[in-house]
Amino acid sequence: MTDQALSAHQTVPSKPTSASRTTLSHIMTAHDTNLLGTVHGGVIMKLVDDAAGAVAGRHSGGPAVTASMDEMVFLEPVRVGDLVHVRAQVNWTGRSSMEVGVRVMAERWNESTPATQVGSAYLVFAAVDADGRPRPVPQVVPETERDKRRYQEAQIRRTHRLARRRAIKELREKRAAEGIDD
Ligand SMILES: CC(C)(COP(=O)(O)OP(=O)(O)OC[C@H]1O[C@@H](n2cnc3c(N)ncnc32)[C@H](O)[C@@H]1OP(=O)(O)O)[C@@H](O)C(=O)NCCC(=O)NCCS
Repeated sequence: MTDQALSAHQTVPSKPTSASRTTLSHIMTAHDTNLLGTVHGGVIMKLVDDAAGAVAGRHSGGPAVTASMDEMVFLEPVRVGDLVHVRAQVNWTGRSSMEVGVRVMAERWNESTPATQVGSAYLVFAAVDADGRPRPVPQVVPETERDKRRYQEAQIRRTHRLARRRAIKELREKRAAEGIDD
């Protein structure tokens, strides 16, 4: 990010977690199934990206692109006739990036039994300007104890993501320097 953008970052007013928390609900139909007859994981991933993108756009007040999606976990199969709720919130903010945490819940569309958790994921979005360059985001202010725990856990994931990227980059550079061509 440029120095100009960085100084702007310090002047962007912060926002509480609740300002952008969003739930996207969708009923699963026969169009959403895989060859086993349950819902295709990619259908759920699309909903996760959609909900997280809405949250990132709301928090940052403009366009935001998916930089990464990790720890996508499927806990239970989702079935045709399930009403799926995808709940997303900003867990953590950096300079131009935001980690969005997503929880996927499912309930039968015609029963009043409680929804159960069927998945979760963490996505990093980068806020971008009209030219696609990263732009500063408001700092998120965690409100509840749960928000604070999620903020701290997101910091741990951020540290691990950066360390993993750096380690892999260094390994590739070392192999290239040794003349190994793969
Ligand atoms: C994401 C993107 C804007 C990053 O641009 P860049 O030139 O690498 O810019 P930076 O290195 O300054 O990264 C911007 C921020 O994103 C974060 N980021 C970039 N790549 C990341 C990754 N793979 N995982 C996690 N965070 C990432 C950086 O840590 C940085 O965060 P910070 O400003 O809070 O410190 C750029 O790679 C891009 O446009 N990617 C395509 C996104 C897209 O089209 N998504 C939809 C896919 S169809």
